[in-house]
Amino acid sequence: MRAVQCQQWGGPELLTVAELPLPEPGPGQVRIKVAAAGVNFPDLLIIQNKYQMQPPLPFTPGAEVAGEITAVGEGVTGLKPGMKVAALCMIGGFAEECLAAAAACMPLPPGVPATLAAAFVLAYGTSWHALRDRAELKAGETVLILGAAGGVGLAAVEIAKAIGATVIAAASSEAKLAVCTEHGADHTINYSEADLRAEVKKLTEGRGPDVIFDPVGGRFAEPAFRSIGWRGRYLVIGFADGEVPSLPMNLPLLKGASLVGVFWGEFAKREPKNNAAGMAELMGWVAGGQLRPRVSHQYSLEEVPQALRDMGERKVVGKVVVVPG
Ligand SMILES: NC(=O)c1ccc[n+]([C@@H]2O[C@H](COP(=O)([O-])OP(=O)(O)OC[C@H]3O[C@@H](n4cnc5c(N)ncnc54)[C@H](OP(=O)(O)O)[C@@H]3O)[C@@H](O)[C@H]2O)c1
Repeated sequence: MRAVQCQQWGGPELLTVAELPLPEPGPGQVRIKVAAAGVNFPDLLIIQNKYQMQPPLPFTPGAEVAGEITAVGEGVTGLKPGMKVAALCMIGGFAEECLAAAAACMPLPPGVPATLAAAFVLAYGTSWHALRDRAELKAGETVLILGAAGGVGLAAVEIAKAIGATVIAAASSEAKLAVCTEHGADHTINYSEADLRAEVKKLTEGRGPDVIFDPVGGRFAEPAFRSIGWRGRYLVIGFADGEVPSLPMNLPLLKGASLVGVFWGEFAKREPKNNAAGMAELMGWVAGGQLRPRVSHQYSLEEVPQALRDMGERKVVGKVVVVPG
């Protein structure tokens, strides 16, 4: 089978496509013929050895897939060859076939396209865990979402609207903000042109948002935190900007506010029942039409370096996927 290979730590240009033997599922694992694999920012971090998980070299990147089960390992019950699933594999997804733990597979409802399923679990799972579980966002509250046209950002826009919150979407261009509005955002801020704090103050009539969702970090984190409302919850999602920001500790004190860490992969592993409840709620919202995941581009295996470059250069809107076939 063909698979993308990371043979040395570094940028996307170092990735190659190699012919590898089919992987054999071990106990508790399944093998999946990949119809589509979601591209996520952590893929870009993993190949540069900048992520919290460090797989031994060489390895195939690609954290989530959708496709058909082709083999099952010892002890797997409830899944069999021929079944269509979405799965979180963490690595191995940018390949014609990959392995995943049976426990990390979700059977696909009939009619759900693989390209959509492969773009769903990680982004929507993260944003659900952040907004619903960690911040306990309520209907009527206001949430500010940074990097709102990105993968987890656009998922957060839709989930916050499904909860009944007012959404302020912040992103770096008018074209990205137009997409956020299309997906339900009530207000927008172009933070590459406008002053983020001043705009947030104006839009919230001085109260500040109840919740801030931050997958960007860097230079926006402190002004965003300074604009948070009383008893606000600031969700630390990630650092797409590349810089891990620091905050003066008096800021949470002054607003009676909380700095709330979000690590969805660990949550899904440690609290599988709570994660399954989240997925069930998300599926209900998909069925009800409140969530409309946006897959804006498809790449081949050979184009994986381009997909990751596009992500690093802020060119991706919503989600993009790799289609090995
Ligand atoms: N905590 C968790 O459990 C968890 C789970 C999944 C992902 N994450 C993290 O969340 C972040 C976003 O992931 P994603 O998959 O949604 O990525 P994405 O689709 O690329 O979105 C990231 C957004 O960040 C903004 N950005 C600002 N500076 C950037 C830069 N220098 N390079 C790239 N983007 C930049 C971009 O929006 P603008 O151009 O509008 O600024 C972009 O849309 C990453 O840091 C990722 O590691 C965390």
